[in-house]
Amino acid sequence: MIPVARTRKAVAALVAGWRAKRLTVGFVPTMGALHAGHAELVRRAARENDRVIVSVFVNPLQFGPNEDFGRYPRALPADRRLVGAAGAAAVYAPSEEEMYLKGFHTHVEVEGLSDIHDGRFRPGHFRGVATVVLKLFNQVRPDKAYFGEKDWQQVRILEDMARDLDLSVKIIRVPIVREKDGLAMSSRNSYLSSAERLAAPALHAALEAGRKEARRPHSRPETIAAAVRKALEGSALKLQYAAVWDGRLLVAAYLGKTRLIDNVSL
Ligand code: PAJ
Repeated sequence: MIPVARTRKAVAALVAGWRAKRLTVGFVPTMGALHAGHAELVRRAARENDRVIVSVFVNPLQFGPNEDFGRYPRALPADRRLVGAAGAAAVYAPSEEEMYLKGFHTHVEVEGLSDIHDGRFRPGHFRGVATVVLKLFNQVRPDKAYFGEKDWQQVRILEDMARDLDLSVKIIRVPIVREKDGLAMSSRNSYLSSAERLAAPALHAALEAGRKEARRPHSRPETIAAAVRKALEGSALKLQYAAVWDGRLLVAAYLGKTRLIDNVSL
């Protein structure tokens, strides 16, 4: 089993040891309950760096008061095995107390980008993401960091943060990993009942319907969003938004109490 660093001090010492040997360091930040999508990030990082470290930290700062922080799945032993098999050299799993010292009150706000699309429905979410990711970068000091396109807006925000704040870490985007039926892999898919799981691929199918509309000569963002909405009519999925942005079609929808997001290129 690969080692787990539990403190800022331990992770700094671990990475310093690698650096002393002139090894390059790739970093994959996660909230755990890992799946094949995360494994793909780790494999990519392992190809491009001498050592890979994966953080597992369910970040309270990025959950709203009525969101699923308390019941977010936690599975560190399985996570450790999965990332070890994918080529990681270590896991960094700090406690909440280690991450947020008493009196913590400094935040990173990527203005504008944090308030649109997903941010409109999750106030404070991207501020929590940017803040924890900058802290993790400072704690780990990697050469490259890997993020999934599953969370398109997140990776765009983190790229802007890295540019605006002169971070030396290189941000790498990794394409979405899907189940055979099209459903984007997500730790939150474990919330779905078996009936909901059967209905879930309709979200990706609706994105494909939107993409088809986008290829028609006189399509516009509104007709593309309408095609998504129409594709979900009568399904168990309740669309929260469909938006054309940054060359992508982004959606969020509820399946029962579970909020799913997905996107495709246009
Ligand atoms: P989490 O949801 O655990 O995701 C960790 C990383 O895995 C993110 O970069 C996410 O985009 C990527 N990922 C998840 N599912 C994927 C899939 N199906 N295909 C490709 N990549 C996928 O995103 C977070 O955690 C947090 O916000 C974090 C960045 C760790 C900050 O707390």
